[in-house]
Amino acid sequence: MAPFQNNPIGVIDSGVGGISVLKCIRAHLPHENLIYVADSKFAPYGEKTSEEITRRVLTVFDFLNKQEVKSVVVACNTATAASIQIVREKFDYPIIGMEPAVKPASLMSKNKIVGVLATSGTLLSAKFSALLEHHGNDIHFITQPCFGLVELVEQGDTESPELITLLKKYIDPLLKEEIDTLVLGCTHYSFLKKTIKKLMPEYIKIVDTGDAVSNYLKLVLVEKNMLNQNAKPGTTDFWTNSLDQNADKVISKLWGDNSKSFNFKGLWF
Ligand code: DGL
Repeated sequence: MAPFQNNPIGVIDSGVGGISVLKCIRAHLPHENLIYVADSKFAPYGEKTSEEITRRVLTVFDFLNKQEVKSVVVACNTATAASIQIVREKFDYPIIGMEPAVKPASLMSKNKIVGVLATSGTLLSAKFSALLEHHGNDIHFITQPCFGLVELVEQGDTESPELITLLKKYIDPLLKEEIDTLVLGCTHYSFLKKTIKKLMPEYIKIVDTGDAVSNYLKLVLVEKNMLNQNAKPGTTDFWTNSLDQNADKVISKLWGDNSKSFNFKGLWF
């Protein structure tokens, strides 16, 4: 058995949004030991420069490298757009990134009108422009940066009146344009899926990428003979640098039904 097979997998985000991806990873890979790192003290990343985001991402990788991770999932669209190339050049284990589900949405849409909710950092990135160019030929994409949503999800808010007012402000213009498919291009927004559904006609399809990314991670680990060989369930450790007294409660709420099976490790930096 290769010695690294039982090493942990790191999953990172600007904050708690990547927990939506972590849940999918846990479902796909029950025997893996997972280490989640939330950089909440520096969230949101959405309006930071690529250089600032890359500095933060490298700091988080540094922490994970000390724990001898065998792979890392950058469970953040904004961080992926800013820095995936740099970390892939620097580290030689598999690094999986996230990008808004433009391709699946373009295949799903019947009327060819697709809305994309994401951070301004993601929408303004060269990576996102290239993605639209590649998959968007006959599709009308309407992009909407959603200032303020990440901050609310960071507090564990997924359905307050304040959040709903903000969501309506972002979604109503997309409804006027008659979208039939909506891409959630930020991992924090996946926690708002239920609330968003209530604000739109039922026929509009909502697409995010947690499941596809987890599936891809599994394929990569199988292909490289890197799957954990333990028969017992894997551990899930949460690290955050949030200064919020309730950080553990927010994480527990978002982690949901699985909350019994996680270790809150506290401050990493
Ligand atoms: N979860 C991050 C993403 O997927 C949020 C970015 C932010 O912190 O603004 O883009």
